[in-house]
Amino acid sequence: MSPQPEFAVIGGSGLYALLDGATEHVVDTPYGAPSDPITVAEVGGRAVAFLPRHGRDHRHPPHLIPYRANLWALRSLGVRQILAPCAVGGLLPELGPGTFVVPDQLIDRTSGRVQTYYDRGAVHVSFADPYCPAGRDTLLRTATRQGVGAQDGGTMVVVEGPRFSTRAESRWFSAIGGTVVNMTGHPEAVLARELALCYTAIALVTDLDAGVEGGHSVTHEEVFRVFGENTARLRGLLLDAIAALPAERTCPCPHALDGIKLPFELP
Ligand code: ADE
Repeated sequence: MSPQPEFAVIGGSGLYALLDGATEHVVDTPYGAPSDPITVAEVGGRAVAFLPRHGRDHRHPPHLIPYRANLWALRSLGVRQILAPCAVGGLLPELGPGTFVVPDQLIDRTSGRVQTYYDRGAVHVSFADPYCPAGRDTLLRTATRQGVGAQDGGTMVVVEGPRFSTRAESRWFSAIGGTVVNMTGHPEAVLARELALCYTAIALVTDLDAGVEGGHSVTHEEVFRVFGENTARLRGLLLDAIAALPAERTCPCPHALDGIKLPFELP
C-alpha cells in the first residue's frame, strides 16, 4: 500500500501517464467511478497521485468527463493540492503553440455540466480567484528555474465543446478579455474549491484559435500533435513543481468552507 498522496496531477489531452513505478487505486465515489484508476508514486520524497482526465485511452470527451467523481476520488485518497495541465487555444497572436500560461482567471462558457456537489443546503463558495495562489507561484518559479518560461496570469475561457469555436465566438472571447480557450477547465476548478482543495491550472497552447489574426480553423490533429511535441517539457515542469509545492497550506483554499454548514461530510 503506497502512502497517502497529498499532491495530485490531473493529466489532460496527451498526458495519460506521469509516474514511473506507480501503484494503481480503483476508487468508487457517490458520483460513480472517476475517469480511470488513480496511480500513486513517489516524486521527490512525496506521494503523488495521477489521474488522466479523459481516461488513459481518451474515452471521455470534455463534456462527459466525470468531474465530480474525479475530485471526490482524489480527496478521498488524501489529496489536498492539485496541478491541472490542459491543452488550450491561444486567443492572442503572441501566444503561439508551445507557450505555457498559468491563468489567474476563468470565464465559464460551458452549458449543461453539473458544477456543484451541493444540491442540498446553502453552500456558496467564493470563486473570485479560482486558482490557488501558492500553486501558481510554485509553477511560475519552477518554470523560470527551468528556463521554460510561462506567462503569469491570463483568463481561460472554457467552452462546452466538443467542437472548436467559430471565428466570431473566438473574436468575442478575446474582446471580453480571454487569453486562452479550452474545454475542460470548468467545472473542475469550482469542484476543487467546493472540496476546499488547492487547484492550479497550467495551460499549454497547442494552436491559435480561429478568430486570432493568423489563426486558422483549429483541428483535432493539430491539438494532439503539438501537445505530444511538448509532453516532455510539461512532464519535467510538473514533476519539479510538485516537489516544490508548500508542505503546509497557508493559502485561502483550505478555508473555502469555513463557517458553512455542509449537508454531508467530505471524504
Ligand atoms: N483545446 C486546445 N485548443 C483549443 C481550442 N482552440 N479551443 C478549445 N479547446 C482547445
